[in-house]
Amino acid sequence: MKHFVVVITAALCVSVFVPAVAADLQAQKDLYRRPQAIPFPADNPYTIEKAALGKMLFFETRLSRDNNLSCVSCHNPSFGWQVPFAKAIGAGGKPLGRKSPTTINHAWGNTFFWDGRAGSLEAQARGPIEAPAEMDLPMAVAVKRLGEIEGYRLAFQKAFPDKGLTEDNVLKAIATYERTIVTGDTPFDRWVRGDEKAISASAIRGFALFNGKARCATCHSGWNFSDEKFHDIGLRSPDTGRGGVTGNPGDMHATRTPGLREIVARAPYMHDGSLDTLEGVLAHYISGGTARPTRSPLMQSLQLDGAEFADLLTFLRTLSSPGNVVAMPNLPAR
Ligand code: HEC
Ligand code: HEC
Repeated sequence: MKHFVVVITAALCVSVFVPAVAADLQAQKDLYRRPQAIPFPADNPYTIEKAALGKMLFFETRLSRDNNLSCVSCHNPSFGWQVPFAKAIGAGGKPLGRKSPTTINHAWGNTFFWDGRAGSLEAQARGPIEAPAEMDLPMAVAVKRLGEIEGYRLAFQKAFPDKGLTEDNVLKAIATYERTIVTGDTPFDRWVRGDEKAISASAIRGFALFNGKARCATCHSGWNFSDEKFHDIGLRSPDTGRGGVTGNPGDMHATRTPGLREIVARAPYMHDGSLDTLEGVLAHYISGGTARPTRSPLMQSLQLDGAEFADLLTFLRTLSSPGNVVAMPNLPAR
């Protein structure tokens, strides 16, 4: 009799519990579904002419004082739109204070720079062109230089029939191109859409850990794996982060959660490039990082066994798209 009861309970568990889990998993997958279209702001709508011109400018070394640096020098498509150095090299060959972040999927962002000090891609683009440590070219000089090149005069007239070549339009063209830098389809995306074989059983277990026990999804949420918020994750770096912008002591050491797409190509990791590998990143989260008053309450040491560690890594590796080839634009000679 006792035996019979146990069997009934187990049968109930199977028939009620399993579909609920499947529904939960589908709901969880849906949180990561790729958007259908790129959002462009009303005051800088997409046109193909603007995007094409912006791409030329993104690759244009003549936008730097010494004609040696372009945006691509530090945001290289071959390395997930970053560079494989802890500190990117700027004007005069000197390293910058922070690692260059990726420029992928920023059409969906609302703040830019690790500390979020720019409110739009248009505003952001002025920073690297003018910063003495980066391209070191005042915008007025940049516009003058471009105006001396016939190919650019024509391209600006086509892209901006009203005003042609102006400081604002240089920034608008670059921002339009940047919004088109969207990561390609990955094995993970195919799995989200229903191809059960697209990722391994280990990666599927890793996805569950990412959303559950390992707490990653609390901050790395949504299709681009970022909540777009600022957190102190307890890195040793003395960088003031968001606190340097707001002056609020509670924001010290906090940086904006980076997205995790194309993460394999994006080493070294973190704003200071202090972690060389994804294994090192996981080890940081397992330790919980440096305890200090500003450290996020989510940053507590994690218990992951060897198999779980491997599953989480396997999952992170499903977020890269194959064959990311970006053609060089033709830049006008004069
Ligand atoms: C010498 C290297 C270097 C060059 C050249 C450079 N950048 Fe950057 N870029 C960086 C670094 C470093 C940061 C992060 C700085 C910070 O957070 O304080 C950054 C941040 C950014 C961000 C913000 C990303 C984010 O996650 O918030 C964007 C967008 C960007 N750069 C675009 C550009 C554009 C457009 C150009 C060309 C006009 C350019 N960069 C040129 C190194 C560079
Ligand atoms: C409290 C919020 C939070 C949690 C929880 C969290 N992260 Fe992060 N993650 C961040 C922030 C913020 C950064 C950037 C830190 C910096 O460089 O200053 C980051 C950086 C990263 C990076 C490096 C990205 C780059 O561009 O260099 C990886 C990879 C990463 N996290 C993976 C994970 C994984 C895996 C987990 C779960 C084990 C996790 N994160 C949990 C907020 C979080």
